[in-house]
Amino acid sequence: MLIAGNWKMFKGPAEAWAFADAFDPPDGVDVVVCPPYLALATVVEAGITTYAQNVHWAAEGAFTGEISATMLSELGVQGSIVGHSERRQFFGESDETVARRTVAALEAGLGVIACVGETEEEHDSGQKEIVVRLQVESIRDAVGAHERLVIAYEPVWAIGTGKTASPEEAQEAHAFIKSLVDVPVLYGGSVKPENAEELLSQSDVDGALVGGASLVVESFTAICQTAARIQS
Ligand code: PGA
Repeated sequence: MLIAGNWKMFKGPAEAWAFADAFDPPDGVDVVVCPPYLALATVVEAGITTYAQNVHWAAEGAFTGEISATMLSELGVQGSIVGHSERRQFFGESDETVARRTVAALEAGLGVIACVGETEEEHDSGQKEIVVRLQVESIRDAVGAHERLVIAYEPVWAIGTGKTASPEEAQEAHAFIKSLVDVPVLYGGSVKPENAEELLSQSDVDGALVGGASLVVESFTAICQTAARIQS
């Protein structure tokens, strides 16, 4: 079971240090924290497994504002999220660029949490399966069922909204994704201590990608403890 905290654009080095200092992850669950770039070194130094929130496909070059996989490795960062829906929605990320980022990160020895998921409109118009299929297949066709690849199923309508997929809906989506590529699948979208148990108990839910609730030590710890309990 893997619980990853995506801090998005919250917490600079000082707040990251305060979090890390107070955070004592339970045994029996893999925990990853994904801080903003500026706080990566702080979280690495605190001894927590650290992933970036994005990574570029080139090793170096004229790509203003981007960071490469080798630069992340140099810092002790062990992986990266790619294709988060906020990147797809606000920064023009496409299935093609997500696949390129995934290839580069895996080739450089990093782990990857690749995000997929349908928007509310796609969900309501019955296009969920085709959208998720295309997103997953583009990653799978680029790297296969790589041992350091994890998919995160994050229905966009559930992110930061307080709405979650029902446990049955999550289970169904996860089983579908695994039928396309046999890798662990995390659920993401308003995961909180109150709903973690029912979601993480589903047989094809292998962990969670947690946004808002990962910013507070108490709620993130509670979710990690639930995962550890279910795992054992
Ligand atoms: P949320 O975010 O838990 O705040 O909904 C999840 C994510 O965006 O990864």
